[in-house]
Amino acid sequence: MDWRSVILSVGVLHVAVCYGYQISNATEFDEQKDELAVAEDSHRTGRFFPFYTIGRIANVPCTSPSGLSGTCLIAGECKDNGGLASGSCSTRTNQAVCCVYTQSCGGSTNLNSTYFTNSGYPGAYNGGGTCTFTITPSSGICQLRIDFRSLTLEQPTGDGSCNTDRLTIVGASPAVVPICGENTGQHLYVNFVGSGPISLRIATNGDVSFNRLWNIELSQIACASAERAPAGCLQYYTDASGEISSLNYGLGENPALNTVSARGSRQLANTNYGICIRPAAGRCSITYSLPPNDRYAFTVSGDAIAVDPTLLGMAMLSMTGVACTTDYVIIPNPTGLTSDRFCGLGLASITTGARPFVVYTVTNANETPDVANRGFRLLYSQNACAAA
Ligand SMILES: *[C@@H]1O[C@H](CO)[C@@H](O)[C@H](O)[C@H]1NC(C)=O
Ligand SMILES: *[C@@H]1O[C@H](CO)[C@@H](O)[C@H](O)[C@H]1NC(C)=O
Repeated sequence: MDWRSVILSVGVLHVAVCYGYQISNATEFDEQKDELAVAEDSHRTGRFFPFYTIGRIANVPCTSPSGLSGTCLIAGECKDNGGLASGSCSTRTNQAVCCVYTQSCGGSTNLNSTYFTNSGYPGAYNGGGTCTFTITPSSGICQLRIDFRSLTLEQPTGDGSCNTDRLTIVGASPAVVPICGENTGQHLYVNFVGSGPISLRIATNGDVSFNRLWNIELSQIACASAERAPAGCLQYYTDASGEISSLNYGLGENPALNTVSARGSRQLANTNYGICIRPAAGRCSITYSLPPNDRYAFTVSGDAIAVDPTLLGMAMLSMTGVACTTDYVIIPNPTGLTSDRFCGLGLASITTGARPFVVYTVTNANETPDVANRGFRLLYSQNACAAA
């Protein structure tokens, strides 16, 4: 916030206190953006600005004491919008609260930063049915960031299909494969199609007893925002170094057996997407490597129990190029290598200077041959540009 916004917000609060707030409908805030600009102008020229500038407060994201994303609002307005006041978002007044929106099955919103939870959350849901939540974009919004603060659903079949439980994303572009298993900490970026809504639909099979849990943060991203993920990136990481992993990657193998009664794979079938990493200032290349102490960190194709377990992850079990036809990752233009395609049960560190920084992941429709596979978990680290 620049100084003018601060003064404006404080002024607005003052006005709100004097007149009582009159705008309780967040939909109206967006329609008033032009008027807000006018309000700022009149402020600049020293004229009195009217109470509808209360809307200025609504645009400020805040963080609740427990780390949830909220919107800074006047307390009564938060209540009217169905939010929960979660701490203060201003040190100058107790009138503004960090308003956190949480909704469950059957809900819908056009408000930013809404959490979609299972019924009974924070308790688990052990039952069947379909639970849907719908987000309608406000004007000027292009993308939806979906953060799985928690997403625990039943594992896929041993062949990688989400048959018992599945999260389906409806109305987004590009289409996303149904998701299941353990995806806490993962996120997705999807595009709205014009002003059409996006729905998250979670279907669970009540015949299978399992403690499902979800708490999904939904953030609307403006078309003009620097936070918008580039095209082709289902995931987008913005730190200079960190960790990426395939959907449903996790410790422990899928307890389900596959169709030939061998130990199942955690990899989801039919995926094909990009995991992008924003180039940091002064960094010209990126290195991917396997984390220590996790032998299964690259078990992408083949039979992981047919090999000596102490060899899992090692470069000698890595396959590349035309040997990779079913499940594989693509790291464009790897330094010193002739193929950009990797699969098998191990991986050597890989560096590339090709931008954008992206890892493509592809799985086919049938994970049956991928016995006891888990997918991949890679550390990434961006490297400083060489001195000129
Ligand atoms: C909010 O605005 C919409 C559209 O202007 C209107 O249909 C709805 O009734 C309003 N809701 C409230 C609570 O005022
Ligand atoms: C929505 O909230 C997130 C933070 O939760 C913020 O990064 C984003 O810019 C907000 N979007 C808009 C359009 O204000």
